[in-house]
Amino acid sequence: MSNKPRLSESIGVIGTGIMGTALIRGLLKEKLVNPDQILAYDIINELLMDLVEETGINAALNNQQIVEQSDIIFICVKPQVFLTTLQKLQIAFTSDHLVISIAAGVPLSIIEELTGNSRCVRIMPNMPFQVGEGAAGYSLGTRNDNRDSEIVEIVFGSLGKVFQFPEYLLDAVTGLSGTGPAYVFVFIEALADGGVLAGLPRREALILSAQTVMGAAKLLLEQNVHPGILRDAIMSPGGTTASALQLMEARGFRSILIDAVEAATKKSQFLGQNNLSQSDHLV
Ligand SMILES: NC(=O)c1ccc[n+]([C@@H]2O[C@H](COP(=O)([O-])OP(=O)(O)OC[C@H]3O[C@@H](n4cnc5c(N)ncnc54)[C@H](OP(=O)(O)O)[C@@H]3O)[C@@H](O)[C@H]2O)c1
Repeated sequence: MSNKPRLSESIGVIGTGIMGTALIRGLLKEKLVNPDQILAYDIINELLMDLVEETGINAALNNQQIVEQSDIIFICVKPQVFLTTLQKLQIAFTSDHLVISIAAGVPLSIIEELTGNSRCVRIMPNMPFQVGEGAAGYSLGTRNDNRDSEIVEIVFGSLGKVFQFPEYLLDAVTGLSGTGPAYVFVFIEALADGGVLAGLPRREALILSAQTVMGAAKLLLEQNVHPGILRDAIMSPGGTTASALQLMEARGFRSILIDAVEAATKKSQFLGQNNLSQSDHLV
């Protein structure tokens, strides 16, 4: 028998766009729940029906049904429709519900205000959780119990790495891992361009580039050492790596990444502090 955790709770998903779909696929791939434990709704009926056909989950007729029939409810709509979506459901929520919002920039105070006495969690995941390699940070609200953090750690721990933070740090999580996959895609593409410039065929260059990023990350996480130790192991005196790194340092490669994370964090703070209608620019 497998020791993998499973959830006995019923799951509701409001919004089956990119992230809602990725979440459902991940839950099923990791066998955390059976398809018939999931009830989902999206205002784009075709999107919902395609997912139902693909995964065998249940389709709800509306969001009200999700709230009435689910123990754990994932809110996966864009921040700019968050308010209007939840306002209509407000009275259906009870303290038996665990509401997990993935909406960027929507503070816990607003999530709690819109969901009656329910227990609320705000989490900032990232897109690679659809392949089980996500990175997420979350914060608990004011009404949670220990089982709630256990559930979050089971779900997002099965789909990647997850850490609990005080809420003010979720902007930094947004700037680093929430938006980070986009920086890495640019890095992979540019690395492949370098390979093409050096004569490699495009397809192979792209695969070599992506595999190099994945392999290096896996090595670092598995060996749990400082990246400098692994870099030094590759960098032989007077060698090719030393020449490349000299150029990267001279062009400010590190500072660019540090500044990029800082810029995204500040933008997240700014949008979160302003009204929700501006938050559609988040992530
Ligand atoms: N994408 C990322 O990398 C990422 C990372 C971390 C967090 N997030 C957060 O994840 C959330 C979802 O993002 P996404 O990229 O998955 O957005 P998305 O692809 O637009 O998915 C949202 C879905 O919800 C639907 N919807 C809108 N109002 C609804 C309602 N009242 N009831 C049910 N469904 C409704 C949308 O339909 P319409 O298109 O017709 O509105 C759409 O199909 C956002 O809050 C975002 O901040 C995203």
